[in-house]
Amino acid sequence: MDPETLKQKAAHYAVDTFVQDGMTLGLGTGSTVKYALERLGTHLRSGRLNRIAGVPTSERTARLSRRLGIPLIALEEAPGLDLYIDGADEIDPRLDLIKGLGGALLREKIVASVARRMVVIADGRKLVDHLGQRAPLPVEVVPFGWTIHVDWLAALGCTPVLRRQADGTPFITDNGNYIYDCTFPEGIPAPRELQARLNARPGIVEHGLFLGYAHVAVVACGEDDVRVYRRDTSPTASA
Ligand code: A5P
Repeated sequence: MDPETLKQKAAHYAVDTFVQDGMTLGLGTGSTVKYALERLGTHLRSGRLNRIAGVPTSERTARLSRRLGIPLIALEEAPGLDLYIDGADEIDPRLDLIKGLGGALLREKIVASVARRMVVIADGRKLVDHLGQRAPLPVEVVPFGWTIHVDWLAALGCTPVLRRQADGTPFITDNGNYIYDCTFPEGIPAPRELQARLNARPGIVEHGLFLGYAHVAVVACGEDDVRVYRRDTSPTASA
């Protein structure tokens, strides 16, 4: 089945199942979240949902949300978010994630860290046995001394490549930083150890390992095959 249709199925299922009147939402970033935002906009216009407010994790999501009529607030105004909906680049059996191919990982992790519940939406291609199997790990660094990280990252067993825009200039995040996309040839052997090392490195402001944040993953694998995974369990439903 066409991946766009699957993304849309997962997004609609998540919005219809988990979003309730009066919630404050973390609004993720990416091509799957786009469908969730559209669904939220539709439900707000029809009156099926009311009093929703969202904290966008990127300028891109903020622009689309405004166009769709989704009320936005700053995280400072809504420190305890009820629910965070976002996509992922990889989802492993523990619901640990790689995120950040859309470049919004820093704000995404801040939002994930304060949301009471995180629901991940994806098509079936995102399911992996272990992290790093198909996606590079994005690592966001401040521009000051940015090249000092190349050898250090390579020593961790990956190939770091500076993310660039189509015109060849470095991709710059919403926070004014650069991103190294780090490919691990055999996947990431020990994600928690890697997380600890990346967290401790001055100049690295964030990375795309989201370990222990997701509570639920809604993964569309086929026409009548939407799987709902809860952390530490096997699929519990098929819709
Ligand atoms: C944005 O920075 C990312 O974390 C996205 O959530 C992730 O890359 C998934 O994006 P897609 O839904 O476009 O695959």
